[in-house]
Amino acid sequence: MGVFITFEGPEGSGKSTQARLLYERLQAEGYPVILTREPGGTRIGEMIRRILVDLRHTEMAPTTETLLFSAARAQLVSELIRPYLNTGGIVLCDRYADSTFAYQGYGLGRDLDELQAITTVATGGLMPDLTLYLDIDVEEGLRRKRAQRERTTAPGAAAARAEWNRLDARDLAYHQRVVAGFFELMQREPGRWRRLSANQPVEAVAAQIYAEVEPLLAPVPRLGSMV
Ligand code: TYD
Repeated sequence: MGVFITFEGPEGSGKSTQARLLYERLQAEGYPVILTREPGGTRIGEMIRRILVDLRHTEMAPTTETLLFSAARAQLVSELIRPYLNTGGIVLCDRYADSTFAYQGYGLGRDLDELQAITTVATGGLMPDLTLYLDIDVEEGLRRKRAQRERTTAPGAAAARAEWNRLDARDLAYHQRVVAGFFELMQREPGRWRRLSANQPVEAVAAQIYAEVEPLLAPVPRLGSMV
């Protein structure tokens, strides 16, 4: 039933870059693969994303935030992830339910059992086969993310720079609780997680990721090399 791989990590860990590199390599090797992200990935999910990040929404209650992330996830699972896994393909997702436990649970202090119940409803219990955690010091990650934004000059960059302010603007202590939360989650399910240092050249991280993913690929039918 396909292979489901997620990427997690704090801000500025480079996980979106790594997700893309893995996607491109798998595609070049002829594997059926899709890359998606949370929140978003579907038309409805992208609309929910806009509500979540809107700078004007300072009054958003933590419950609302939790349910909106979960609603976007429910749509993504039912519209894209499950159908693609059912065809036997590989799904790569930039963030998934673990982010809700880390950010809304450990970060905002929402009850973890409650989050588990909401997540089970949203996903129908679908969990990744493998979760790649890109490990970076919180302050270094936030510094990288800021630097990245300042370098961006492409059209639409202003919107991209502003997009995540509502969530990014949370203080350092919040981001530190999030990372401590990720470590708890890893300890609970060591078999599912792989922790990789993001403090290495991009290519070195990509090679380590591929080495972790390769053993899972045996049952996936290849379409024949496209390179
Ligand atoms: P995004 O711009 O995709 O940044 P990143 O590159 O860090 O993934 O922003 C996603 C933000 O949403 C990020 O701050 C984490 C947060 N988030 C949650 O708080 N809960 C969730 O369930 C998910 C999926 C993301």
